[in-house]
Amino acid sequence: MQTMTQLDPLRRTVDALRVDGPVALVPTMGALHEGHLSLVRAAKTHAAHVAVSIFINPRQFGANEDLDKYPRQLAADSALLEAEGVSLLWAPEPTLMYPQGYATNVAVSGVSEGLCGTARPGHFDGVATVVCKLFNQVRPDLALFGEKDWQQLAVIRRMARDLDLTLPHAEAIIGVPTVREADGLALSSRNAYLSAEQRAAAAELPRAMRWAAERIARGAGVEPTLREAEQSLLAGGFDRIDYIALCDAQSLAPLTALGGNAARLLVAARIGATRLIDNIPV
Ligand code: PAF
Repeated sequence: MQTMTQLDPLRRTVDALRVDGPVALVPTMGALHEGHLSLVRAAKTHAAHVAVSIFINPRQFGANEDLDKYPRQLAADSALLEAEGVSLLWAPEPTLMYPQGYATNVAVSGVSEGLCGTARPGHFDGVATVVCKLFNQVRPDLALFGEKDWQQLAVIRRMARDLDLTLPHAEAIIGVPTVREADGLALSSRNAYLSAEQRAAAAELPRAMRWAAERIARGAGVEPTLREAEQSLLAGGFDRIDYIALCDAQSLAPLTALGGNAARLLVAARIGATRLIDNIPV
């Protein structure tokens, strides 16, 4: 695996790798876990080479969020990627990504608004901006993102379409299903912040979601079901529910009933200072 920190050698290396076939990009912020490795493994089934980026993007953290606390473990991450057969690690410094005088922001309206967009103002501008830059830097043929961040995936797909960020592969932006612990909790770098007691309580999140999704699918009213799920999260140890919503899976428009289009149940809830998000199809 080649580790690159400068743009010109990165582009020369990607062009050389592309001679063998498509190059897939898996953008990450490091602190890699099985969820990220599942993206790498999925990428290998679509591409001749996998490039992974590790960049802790300050622009997607709010003023009161955990940027300083965010785990930084490049050596350990690098070893994991090497073992997975990743060809290239792109690890730019913040000054390369956002040099002195940097002034451009990518804002995607519609799908960025509501849900996490309400609780984390500016977050999706930060995500869209850095992913747009990563696509332009690495110039991959396709890119893979976890479905756990469902709204992020929708924002990135919208941004790539709107800005004509042509990724040549037939399936340019691929969503990969969420990897879960045995009790159903979605893998997340944030799980590391949970105490043992909080970690046990966190299992209520996938349980309440599954319960609500099954009830709604069987015809129960959406609003009362979501309120009941919210109450069971609070009773189960969550301190605050940012949202629990049934949405159109593509547009993320809120739904009060199932219709013809695919629907998704999305939740963000806090235990202590830790905010967990998850989503499942309905
Ligand atoms: O999902 C993440 O890890 C980040 O939001 C991403 C897509 C790498 C952009 O910084």
